[in-house]
Amino acid sequence: MSRVRTAVLISGRGSNLKALIEAGANPSFPAPIVLVISNAAAAPGLNYAAAAGIPVKIIPHGDFARRDEFDSAVDAALRSANAEIVCLAGFMRLLTDEFVQKWHGRLINIHPSLLPAFKGVRVHERAIAAGVRISGCTVHFVTPEMDSGPPIVQAAVPVHSDDDPDTLAARVLAAEHKLYPLALRMVAEGRVRLEDGKAVFSDCASMDEMLVNPRISRRSPLC
Ligand code: GRF
Repeated sequence: MSRVRTAVLISGRGSNLKALIEAGANPSFPAPIVLVISNAAAAPGLNYAAAAGIPVKIIPHGDFARRDEFDSAVDAALRSANAEIVCLAGFMRLLTDEFVQKWHGRLINIHPSLLPAFKGVRVHERAIAAGVRISGCTVHFVTPEMDSGPPIVQAAVPVHSDDDPDTLAARVLAAEHKLYPLALRMVAEGRVRLEDGKAVFSDCASMDEMLVNPRISRRSPLC
Protein backbone atom coordinates (compact mmCIF):
# COMPACT_ATOMS: atom_id res chain seq x y z
CA MET A 1 0.00 0.00 0.00
CA SER A 2 1.40 3.39 -0.90
CA ARG A 3 0.64 5.86 1.85
CA VAL A 4 -0.70 9.33 1.03
CA ARG A 5 1.35 12.17 2.46
CA THR A 6 -0.92 14.39 4.53
CA ALA A 7 -0.49 17.88 5.98
CA VAL A 8 -2.54 19.45 8.76
CA LEU A 9 -3.22 23.17 9.13
CA ILE A 10 -3.95 24.43 12.65
CA SER A 11 -4.30 27.68 14.57
CA GLY A 12 -4.71 26.58 18.17
CA ARG A 13 -5.29 23.69 20.57
CA GLY A 14 -4.71 20.88 18.09
CA SER A 15 -6.69 18.04 19.63
CA ASN A 16 -7.85 16.91 16.19
CA LEU A 17 -4.27 17.13 14.98
CA LYS A 18 -3.32 14.82 17.85
CA ALA A 19 -6.00 12.32 16.77
CA LEU A 20 -4.72 12.42 13.17
CA ILE A 21 -1.09 12.03 14.25
CA GLU A 22 -1.99 9.02 16.38
CA ALA A 23 -3.91 7.43 13.52
CA GLY A 24 -1.11 8.15 11.06
CA ALA A 25 1.49 6.61 13.34
CA ASN A 26 0.00 3.18 12.62
CA PRO A 27 1.73 1.81 9.49
CA SER A 28 -1.56 0.33 8.32
CA PHE A 29 -3.19 3.78 8.24
CA PRO A 30 -3.03 5.13 4.67
CA ALA A 31 -2.37 8.82 5.49
CA PRO A 32 0.71 9.62 7.60
CA ILE A 33 1.00 13.23 8.81
CA VAL A 34 4.17 14.63 7.23
CA LEU A 35 3.80 18.36 7.90
CA VAL A 36 1.95 20.65 10.31
CA ILE A 37 1.45 24.29 9.38
CA SER A 38 0.26 26.92 11.82
CA ASN A 39 -0.50 30.59 11.23
CA ALA A 40 0.05 31.16 14.97
CA ALA A 41 3.51 30.64 16.47
CA ALA A 42 2.02 30.03 19.93
CA ALA A 43 -0.51 27.39 18.86
CA PRO A 44 -0.44 24.74 21.62
CA GLY A 45 -1.11 22.04 19.03
CA LEU A 46 2.41 22.48 17.68
CA ASN A 47 3.62 20.52 20.70
CA TYR A 48 1.89 17.39 19.40
CA ALA A 49 3.80 17.68 16.14
CA ALA A 50 7.08 18.26 17.94
CA ALA A 51 6.50 15.28 20.25
CA ALA A 52 5.88 13.06 17.23
CA GLY A 53 8.91 14.41 15.34
CA ILE A 54 6.73 15.83 12.55
CA PRO A 55 8.10 18.89 10.70
CA VAL A 56 6.36 22.13 11.57
CA LYS A 57 6.11 25.30 9.51
CA ILE A 58 4.90 28.51 11.12
CA ILE A 59 3.52 30.97 8.59
CA PRO A 60 2.21 34.03 10.47
CA HIS A 61 -0.62 35.54 8.45
CA GLY A 62 0.35 38.99 9.78
CA ASP A 63 3.55 38.81 7.73
CA PHE A 64 1.56 39.12 4.51
CA ALA A 65 -0.21 42.18 3.18
CA ARG A 66 -2.73 40.14 1.22
CA ARG A 67 -4.60 36.89 1.74
CA ASP A 68 -3.46 35.43 -1.56
CA GLU A 69 0.18 36.01 -0.59
CA PHE A 70 -0.33 34.11 2.67
CA ASP A 71 -2.10 31.31 0.80
CA SER A 72 0.75 31.11 -1.73
CA ALA A 73 3.23 30.67 1.10
CA VAL A 74 1.08 27.87 2.56
CA ASP A 75 0.77 26.26 -0.86
CA ALA A 76 4.54 26.43 -1.40
CA ALA A 77 5.18 24.77 1.99
CA LEU A 78 2.70 22.02 1.18
CA ARG A 79 4.29 21.37 -2.20
CA SER A 80 7.82 21.32 -0.86
CA ALA A 81 6.70 18.64 1.61
CA ASN A 82 5.07 16.71 -1.27
CA ALA A 83 1.76 16.81 0.58
CA GLU A 84 -1.09 15.15 -1.26
CA ILE A 85 -3.99 15.74 1.15
CA VAL A 86 -4.54 18.75 3.40
CA CYS A 87 -6.61 18.58 6.59
CA LEU A 88 -7.87 21.77 8.22
CA ALA A 89 -8.13 21.22 11.96
CA GLY A 90 -9.14 24.35 13.82
CA PHE A 91 -7.45 26.51 11.17
CA MET A 92 -8.92 29.96 11.70
CA ARG A 93 -8.14 31.59 8.35
CA LEU A 94 -10.37 31.77 5.30
CA LEU A 95 -8.62 30.37 2.26
CA THR A 96 -8.83 32.06 -1.13
CA ASP A 97 -10.84 30.49 -3.94
CA GLU A 98 -7.60 30.00 -5.86
CA PHE A 99 -6.04 27.95 -3.05
CA VAL A 100 -9.22 25.89 -2.65
CA GLN A 101 -9.26 25.19 -6.39
CA LYS A 102 -5.62 24.09 -6.36
CA TRP A 103 -6.44 21.51 -3.68
CA HIS A 104 -9.82 20.53 -5.10
CA GLY A 105 -10.88 17.16 -3.71
CA ARG A 106 -7.78 16.95 -1.53
CA LEU A 107 -8.69 19.58 1.08
CA ILE A 108 -10.93 18.57 3.99
CA ASN A 109 -12.16 20.28 7.15
CA ILE A 110 -13.86 19.31 10.39
CA HIS A 111 -16.69 21.41 11.79
CA PRO A 112 -18.40 20.86 15.16
CA SER A 113 -22.00 20.71 13.93
CA LEU A 114 -24.17 18.67 11.63
CA LEU A 115 -23.72 20.87 8.58
CA PRO A 116 -25.41 22.70 6.99
CA ALA A 117 -26.75 23.62 10.46
CA PHE A 118 -24.70 26.09 12.49
CA LYS A 119 -21.97 27.13 10.11
CA GLY A 120 -19.40 29.58 11.44
CA VAL A 121 -18.52 30.27 15.07
CA ARG A 122 -20.19 29.92 18.52
CA VAL A 123 -21.68 26.70 17.20
CA HIS A 124 -22.58 24.97 20.48
CA GLU A 125 -24.08 28.11 22.02
CA ARG A 126 -26.30 28.50 18.96
CA ALA A 127 -27.26 24.81 18.91
CA ILE A 128 -28.37 24.99 22.56
CA ALA A 129 -30.24 28.26 21.95
CA ALA A 130 -32.03 26.65 19.00
CA GLY A 131 -33.13 23.74 21.21
CA VAL A 132 -31.87 21.00 18.90
CA ARG A 133 -31.90 17.50 20.42
CA ILE A 134 -29.07 16.16 18.30
CA SER A 135 -25.86 17.86 17.28
CA GLY A 136 -22.58 16.43 16.10
CA CYS A 137 -19.72 17.03 13.74
CA THR A 138 -18.99 16.91 10.03
CA VAL A 139 -15.91 16.26 7.96
CA HIS A 140 -16.43 17.84 4.55
CA PHE A 141 -14.59 18.62 1.37
CA VAL A 142 -13.63 22.29 1.34
CA THR A 143 -15.19 24.49 -1.31
CA PRO A 144 -14.79 28.27 -1.57
CA GLU A 145 -17.75 29.18 0.64
CA MET A 146 -17.01 28.63 4.35
CA ASP A 147 -18.42 25.44 5.94
CA SER A 148 -20.42 24.74 2.78
CA GLY A 149 -18.55 21.92 1.05
CA PRO A 150 -20.21 18.51 0.74
CA PRO A 151 -20.15 16.37 3.87
CA ILE A 152 -18.06 13.21 3.70
CA VAL A 153 -19.01 11.82 7.09
CA GLN A 154 -21.05 12.99 10.04
CA ALA A 155 -21.37 11.81 13.62
CA ALA A 156 -24.35 12.62 15.81
CA VAL A 157 -24.36 13.17 19.57
CA PRO A 158 -27.31 13.96 21.86
CA VAL A 159 -27.85 17.43 23.28
CA HIS A 160 -28.85 17.09 26.92
CA SER A 161 -31.30 19.47 28.56
CA ASP A 162 -28.69 20.57 31.10
CA ASP A 163 -25.90 21.08 28.55
CA ASP A 164 -23.99 24.31 28.38
CA PRO A 165 -21.73 25.13 25.41
CA ASP A 166 -18.72 23.56 27.18
CA THR A 167 -20.35 20.23 28.01
CA LEU A 168 -21.78 19.94 24.50
CA ALA A 169 -18.43 20.92 22.95
CA ALA A 170 -16.68 18.18 24.94
CA ARG A 171 -19.16 15.53 23.75
CA VAL A 172 -18.86 16.66 20.14
CA LEU A 173 -15.07 16.87 20.36
CA ALA A 174 -14.82 13.24 21.50
CA ALA A 175 -16.76 12.31 18.35
CA GLU A 176 -14.53 14.55 16.20
CA HIS A 177 -11.45 12.65 17.30
CA LYS A 178 -12.93 9.39 16.00
CA LEU A 179 -14.51 10.89 12.91
CA TYR A 180 -11.58 12.78 11.41
CA PRO A 181 -9.25 9.77 11.07
CA LEU A 182 -12.14 7.77 9.61
CA ALA A 183 -12.81 10.41 6.96
CA LEU A 184 -9.14 10.88 6.17
CA ARG A 185 -8.76 7.14 5.66
CA MET A 186 -11.64 7.11 3.19
CA VAL A 187 -10.25 10.03 1.19
CA ALA A 188 -6.72 8.61 1.19
CA GLU A 189 -7.97 5.24 0.02
CA GLY A 190 -9.87 6.92 -2.81
CA ARG A 191 -13.15 5.52 -1.55
CA VAL A 192 -14.78 8.94 -1.59
CA ARG A 193 -14.09 11.80 -3.98
CA LEU A 194 -15.38 15.26 -4.75
CA GLU A 195 -17.32 15.23 -7.99
CA ASP A 196 -19.71 17.92 -9.28
CA GLY A 197 -19.90 19.43 -5.81
CA LYS A 198 -20.85 16.16 -4.13
CA ALA A 199 -18.99 13.58 -2.07
CA VAL A 200 -19.23 10.47 -4.24
CA PHE A 201 -18.54 7.03 -2.76
CA SER A 202 -16.95 4.22 -4.66
CA ASP A 203 -19.18 1.55 -3.15
CA CYS A 204 -22.06 0.98 -0.76
CA ALA A 205 -19.82 -0.42 1.97
CA SER A 206 -17.93 2.88 2.02
CA MET A 207 -21.18 4.77 2.33
CA ASP A 208 -22.20 2.62 5.28
CA GLU A 209 -19.03 3.57 7.08
CA MET A 210 -19.93 7.22 6.69
CA LEU A 211 -23.02 6.87 8.89
CA VAL A 212 -21.85 7.21 12.44
CA ASN A 213 -24.18 7.03 15.42
CA PRO A 214 -26.98 6.55 14.81
CA ARG A 215 -26.22 3.76 12.40
CA ILE A 216 -29.54 3.37 10.67
CA SER A 217 -28.84 0.00 9.14
CA ARG A 218 -25.91 -1.96 7.86
CA ARG A 219 -26.86 -1.00 4.32
CA SER A 220 -27.53 2.60 3.46
CA PRO A 221 -31.02 3.13 2.08
CA LEU A 222 -29.43 5.26 -0.63
CA CYS A 223 -27.51 2.36 -2.15
C1 GRF B 1 -12.83 21.74 16.56
O1 GRF B 1 -14.03 21.78 17.28
C2 GRF B 1 -13.09 21.74 15.08
O2 GRF B 1 -14.27 21.08 14.74
C3 GRF B 1 -13.22 23.20 14.76
O3 GRF B 1 -12.27 23.83 15.58
C4 GRF B 1 -12.03 23.02 16.72
C5 GRF B 1 -10.56 22.75 16.74
O4 GRF B 1 -10.18 22.06 17.90
N1 GRF B 1 -13.02 23.44 13.36
P1 GRF B 1 -8.72 21.45 18.00
O5 GRF B 1 -7.75 22.60 17.74
O6 GRF B 1 -8.59 20.38 16.97
O7 GRF B 1 -8.61 20.94 19.40
